[in-house]
Amino acid sequence: MRVGLDCKVVVLTGAGISAESGIKTFRASDGLWEEHRIEDVATPYAWQKNPQLVWDFYQKRRSQLLEVEPNPAHRALKRLEQYLGENFLLITQNVDDLHERAESENVIHMHGELRRLRCEGCGEVFEMMDKASLTEKFVECPSCGNSRLRPHIVWFHEMPLMMPEIYEAVENCDFFITIGTSGHVTPAADLIHIAKSCKATCVGINLEQPLNYDVHDIFHQGKAGEILPQLVEKWLSS
Ligand code: APR
Repeated sequence: MRVGLDCKVVVLTGAGISAESGIKTFRASDGLWEEHRIEDVATPYAWQKNPQLVWDFYQKRRSQLLEVEPNPAHRALKRLEQYLGENFLLITQNVDDLHERAESENVIHMHGELRRLRCEGCGEVFEMMDKASLTEKFVECPSCGNSRLRPHIVWFHEMPLMMPEIYEAVENCDFFITIGTSGHVTPAADLIHIAKSCKATCVGINLEQPLNYDVHDIFHQGKAGEILPQLVEKWLSS
């Protein structure tokens, strides 16, 4: 496989790319949802019914970000982006900030970001990552002043972010690469079908075969942190 400077590459990452940094994936037996029902912490209804539980759940996950570091897979994607420039787009389902901390720039967080909060009233989005703000108290909107900030996370039953930009990039890419995602959650899991129908070569890297395994043209089974750095070097040197 040759990735030339003129090739358009779209990468879709999921929880598996951050597993080697110490962040739990969702669907493993000891996965992220284990202690909670998804309906209790990751739906708009949960936020209405028990906002404190939802707030505490995300505060705990935000605190964890302060303890983890990007791994070689995150850094390999930065290397690919450095080579390809504007021909590279990274779409992530992850709400952690490990891609940014590996210095990736062209990143779309389709499921939102832990480090951001959004006003329930005016919709303005704020950064929130200093240790002092990781308390159990809700935060009022500094802009409109009369609404509470909610996690800037796309919960179940909500629309993922920036879908028009995502579809446009996927429809026009030469290579579509999935990394560390089980293929259970749409629309992310369907993007590979769009890429494939638009004649992209679809490459997968995952510890286990994902649900959409058959759609991949090339599949590498194993840990992203071990496989991806070698693959990127190979792509860039061939
Ligand atoms: N390297 C590569 N893949 C790995 C690694 C690793 N080191 N460790 C685990 N994996 C794989 C697992 O085998 C699994 O197939 O990563 C995948 C993670 O799958 P999920 O836990 O289902 O995570 P993801 O696909 O990102 O979930 C999508 O579901 O709950 C929602 O909004 C949440 O964004 C999330 C979405």
